[in-house]
Amino acid sequence: MNKKLVLVSGGAGYIGSHTAVELIEAGYQVVIADNLSNADMSGVEGVRAITGVDVPFINVDCCDKEAFARLFDQYDFDSVIHFAAFKAVGESVEDPMKYYRNNLLSFMNIVDLMRQKGRSNIVFSSSATVYGEADILPVTEATPRKPATSAYGNTKQMCEDILRDAVAAYPTLKGIALRYFNPIGAHPSALIGELPRGVPQNLVPYITQTAAGIRECLSVFGDDYPTEDGSCLRDYIDIVDLAKAHVAAISRMVDNKNKERYEIFNVGTGRAVSVFELVKTFERVNNLKLNYKVAPRRAGDVVAVWADTTLANTELGWVAERPLEKTLQAAWAWEKRVRNIK
Ligand code: UFG
Repeated sequence: MNKKLVLVSGGAGYIGSHTAVELIEAGYQVVIADNLSNADMSGVEGVRAITGVDVPFINVDCCDKEAFARLFDQYDFDSVIHFAAFKAVGESVEDPMKYYRNNLLSFMNIVDLMRQKGRSNIVFSSSATVYGEADILPVTEATPRKPATSAYGNTKQMCEDILRDAVAAYPTLKGIALRYFNPIGAHPSALIGELPRGVPQNLVPYITQTAAGIRECLSVFGDDYPTEDGSCLRDYIDIVDLAKAHVAAISRMVDNKNKERYEIFNVGTGRAVSVFELVKTFERVNNLKLNYKVAPRRAGDVVAVWADTTLANTELGWVAERPLEKTLQAAWAWEKRVRNIK
């Protein structure tokens, strides 16, 4: 078994491509599997360009168990990081079965195949969405999960439980669930970044597209929340820092440093930033004015969530390093490169 080989499902996407880069730079070999349902080959090409490694890419749907099983026969990786999933919260409310079918089946296939083929380490992409509107902030990994308010959020909770139960039952498996806060930014090379299809649902892509003139005006959803400036508070984590947390999680299992066979870590900065603060920082560090207006609250938004990162800091030895200023400069540099703006 090649302990240094990692399968990255969904590796053509935003978080997957950045993680592939950091794995390679840390000395791992990577195989990317993706069905390109919400990404194109530019992410994979970007990974290859940044690292100078001709990373293998397999076009496969993780829901297709037979096709997926062949990949396990072809490559002797001992670790998988599972990113491949649908992630649009609103769409998941309108078409929950699409989310349950895809997000649960692909993950169950991975867990089954890892066990059947004698492979060990599974990292699952979870989300701070599992905390909902928490009673006490910041949230620790011990903070109770709240009932999910979308099928998307529910699949995150359900996959965490699948991993927990599978690891408990099958002694050869180990698992880590990483609960991401709000991933933003792009690789400093501007060769990979976030490229949402259609109208962006998330704040930073909407900001960069507005700055690029693709969107007319950013709507700030709500200025009457019980926060200092009335807008929501989030924990925005730089994508490269987030990617490095995956390397730390894989190393922990490969090197047998995990304390339990199933573990959960928050991956955030520990800092709460309001929507207005984010917009103003973006304007300042990129020296531009953003067209924005206050709009009604968006259904389903929590007022505030940010991470207690003590566990990741002490156990994973991982700390978010990149300041928000650099992250927002990188986000804009990426948007400019994609749109050919000088
Ligand atoms: N926001 C705006 N205008 C926009 C987009 C977002 O004001 O055009 C605000 C939101 O209201 C929120 C903040 O910016 O206060 C961040 O919104 P995002 O959509 O970027 O991120 P969320 O915190 O809503 O999303 C995160 C994760 C999802 C997860 C969700 C659960 O990205 O994976 O939390 O609510 F499902």
